[in-house]
Amino acid sequence: MENSNQRIVLTGFMGVGKSTVARHLSFILKCEKVDLDSVIEETERRTLAEILDSDGEARFRQIETENLRKVLCSSEARIVALGGGAWTVKENRELIKQRQFITVWLESSFEHCWQNIRLSKRERPLAKNKRQTRKLFEEREKIYCLADWHFIVKPDLTSFEIAKKIAEEVFLIKIN
Ligand code: S3P
Repeated sequence: MENSNQRIVLTGFMGVGKSTVARHLSFILKCEKVDLDSVIEETERRTLAEILDSDGEARFRQIETENLRKVLCSSEARIVALGGGAWTVKENRELIKQRQFITVWLESSFEHCWQNIRLSKRERPLAKNKRQTRKLFEEREKIYCLADWHFIVKPDLTSFEIAKKIAEEVFLIKIN
């Protein structure tokens, strides 16, 4: 029995691989996906780093919530990849619940996320320094825990394998 109407948001720390997993899931489920960070950059016509550096984090969070509302209310997408901080904002969590999206937390170790952050070409103003980034990671763990589902991203699993697990367990899709 397929759970074909289910809609999900993917959350988790920077560098855990939310966008890649969302891309694979949309391929497996043959459905639309949206990447909240990309929507923000398109609407603002600036990179996230430019917004954060020039307007500050508080303004960035307002922009993020406005765009999340727009995506959840008007997009047909069944998969939404959030930016790492979006789920930590209560208003966003309420919005996600109201719109009846299920939240899937992708969890990994700090070292795994940090390695991906360092290897990535994307500039992440909130992850410039290892010590502060680890602190942010530890603070956020208890908020990510509020998600409906929890998948552990082990370094030996590919993003495709994680997407497949989500498709099987959350969407009840049988994959051979
Ligand atoms: C942020 C994570 C980023 C992006 C912004 C802020 C955060 O997204 O939304 O730089 O607060 O954790 P990724 O998790 O995709 O890197």
